[in-house]
Amino acid sequence: MGFLVVLDRVADGAAFDKVIEPARRAVRAVLRPQAVRDVLHGTWLGHPLHPVLVQVPVGSWISAGVLDLVPRLRPAATFLIGTGVAAAVPASLSGAADWSEQEVGVRRLGAIHAVANAAALGLYAGSLAARATDRGGLGRVLSYTALGIATGSAAIGGHMSYAQSSGASHAATAARALSTDWMDLGPLDDFPEGRPTLRTGKAASTAVPLVAVRRGARVVVLVGACSHLSGPLYEGTVEKVRGADCLVCPWHGSAFDLESGAARRGPAANPQEKLEVRMEAGRVMARLAPRHE
Ligand code: FES
Repeated sequence: MGFLVVLDRVADGAAFDKVIEPARRAVRAVLRPQAVRDVLHGTWLGHPLHPVLVQVPVGSWISAGVLDLVPRLRPAATFLIGTGVAAAVPASLSGAADWSEQEVGVRRLGAIHAVANAAALGLYAGSLAARATDRGGLGRVLSYTALGIATGSAAIGGHMSYAQSSGASHAATAARALSTDWMDLGPLDDFPEGRPTLRTGKAASTAVPLVAVRRGARVVVLVGACSHLSGPLYEGTVEKVRGADCLVCPWHGSAFDLESGAARRGPAANPQEKLEVRMEAGRVMARLAPRHE
């Protein structure tokens, strides 16, 4: 059985949910202030923060593994291991914040990812202690073992991102199915003021939900599937969030700026795809921006 098949089996199995769910509640309790969670999600950045932060520990530890091969460069390797250990803390917090708001299959694999990372971190800390007490051989055994575990854990993280779409923009995926032709969404008079309305976008082989919000003589049209986990934005509400009029997702409360589509409140970090809109003889016409062609 291949590694990826094993991961998919793990994602399907409920054996450890009794442990995973209390852990998730604990993470949410610790990271309770929404502003803290939004910093960790990367909502302010417009991009998930976790993959950005993990560059530092991963890069430091791989480089340390190379430097450890050359005896006179081992002090530099020790410094890089320490850098990686320090940088792993914010990277872990960011990952934990994302993990606590993901689907169950991602949470199961994420739990293994977290346990493996914690094991690698512990071994690296042990390696630093051994190097500090003139037991360099033991230090290198511990750090190479840690590097092996961290590499396996990174593969799990990659599977969560690329196969399970955690962190990916689900709105961008939905938008990809849309045509870039102008679509007639109906007469302006049919759109209620300030209330999200479902419309269906033209696509090659499937219907793509759109959400429209009328604002006086204008209509804002966004892809209807939330960028976080495809929640139905057309069932959401329009609210003021951090000084901006936002469309709020009914599933996990992400708020998207109606003017720009940017996430103003997480867990979403990716923006919501916004369509171009024009009025034609009293009818609302919308299309996906040509950059999607
Ligand atoms: S699906 Fe999670 S906030 Fe919209």
